[in-house]
Amino acid sequence: MNDILTIESAAKAAYLVAALLFILALAGLSRHETAKVGNTFGIAGMFVALAATIALAVDAKIEPLGLGLLIGATAIGAAIGLWRARVVEMTGMPELIALLHSFVGLAAVLVGWNGYLHVEGNPEGREAELLAGQDLLGIHSAEVFLGVFIGAVTFIGSIVAFLKLSARIKSRPLMLPGKNLLNIGALVAFAVLTVWFVIDPRLWLLIVVTALALALGWHLVASIGGGDMPVVVSMLNSYSGWAAAASGFLLENDLLIITGALVGSSGAYLSYIMCRAMNRSFISVIAGGFGIEAGPADDRDYGEYREITAEGVAKLLASADSVIITPGYGMAVAQAQYGVAELTRKLRERGVNVRFGIHPVAGRLPGHMNVLLAEAKVPYDIVLEMDEINDDFDDTAVVLVIGANDTVNPAAEEDPSSPIAGMPVLTVWKADNVVVFKRSMAAGYAGVQNPLFFRENSAMLFGDAKDRVQDILQAI
Ligand code: TAP
Repeated sequence: MNDILTIESAAKAAYLVAALLFILALAGLSRHETAKVGNTFGIAGMFVALAATIALAVDAKIEPLGLGLLIGATAIGAAIGLWRARVVEMTGMPELIALLHSFVGLAAVLVGWNGYLHVEGNPEGREAELLAGQDLLGIHSAEVFLGVFIGAVTFIGSIVAFLKLSARIKSRPLMLPGKNLLNIGALVAFAVLTVWFVIDPRLWLLIVVTALALALGWHLVASIGGGDMPVVVSMLNSYSGWAAAASGFLLENDLLIITGALVGSSGAYLSYIMCRAMNRSFISVIAGGFGIEAGPADDRDYGEYREITAEGVAKLLASADSVIITPGYGMAVAQAQYGVAELTRKLRERGVNVRFGIHPVAGRLPGHMNVLLAEAKVPYDIVLEMDEINDDFDDTAVVLVIGANDTVNPAAEEDPSSPIAGMPVLTVWKADNVVVFKRSMAAGYAGVQNPLFFRENSAMLFGDAKDRVQDILQAI
């Protein structure tokens, strides 16, 4: 008995340490200078949590089969996680994250079902009698129902997000007639079923709520267009946190509750920040594209655009004293960051003031550009946020827009009818010269034309960004 108490209290203490490590991880990850340390805290926290869980299982003398399964699952999961993380491209990150969230959702559903089978489904059992004795059976039933519901929405929603992001299914939003009513109807049905289940916990009710949540999760994410998918991934991240917290209540595991709440709230906040930076309504995105309508087709005549060669850009740079580089998704696709870092180094050696302007939603996931630039060893102090650099474009000789489009689109400020009107953007057009690196005149992520390309101080440098940067490097 004494031993059990010792191991139990040690495990509780370890859980607390793990929770603190997770909080430190979040704090570290919020700035790129400390991101690596933050990651290390997170890994350490997970090690502590897993070790404590296995120690608890060994101490509780669970059957050898159960222990084997626990250790086997941990090892297989760790191996798959390591393998995927090593091979994933930065551009494939959102879909990998979506897939991982589906596991959290599935785990929450299984924990909920297991809770039901042990307690409500086995009224003669020790746990059911214990809970009934303390008048806690109703609370347990509500926890089961909520955990299964959030878990199933997260599970299927994440799978749909994964399929859309990896282009295995069309990313076009599904537009069922009365889709908002369907969503609201599902939520009302869930509330009614929960009350029913708490009063009379029948198996068929659990089956119905699982099916309802699967249908709702599928519909919510299927209704969201490709444009908003990254926000959805972050939202599903939040849902997975709440699903884990619900499991934590069922398993009486404090660490799951704390970690779930951390993931749930940070995911929700991140989604909110992303929506604000993209000028999207937070409610509309989480409600599955509530009120989103396609804008009118754009057949305006924007005039002529100018082309420039790599040699021409090299000449421009030779006479420039200040350069701002605004990277976007295209830099990630081309993997041009190493060439860009080399170009930066060369220009700085010649005394040119080179800085980077990073839009909060440049690329396809938060911090995408910062990670790429850090990978290529661009000094942190010249990588500035949009708000820090937007006033400086006026006094800048050359701006190099490398694979960015929507994030530098003047229509966001100047054209109230534009689908991206109101989105804060990098005001690159205020510089003396703007060079836009891209492969064609195709639109960016939001699918809208960019009047920047047709301005008198702009010139297009067509081709793959990595090749064109190499050409410039050779020319200087
Ligand atoms: P985008 O507007 O997506 O434009 C990327 C540009 O890169 C395209 O114009 C494309 O033109 C060019 N490109 C692609 N491959 C290239 C290559 N190999 N070499 C040269 N250019 C290449 O990029 P952005 O300015 O970074 O904006 C991001 C968009 O994603 C925003 O609309 C944002 O709202 C959305 N979004 C971002 C996030 C986060 S969190 N970052 C989340 C959700 C949505 P070509 O095809 O002609 O080459």
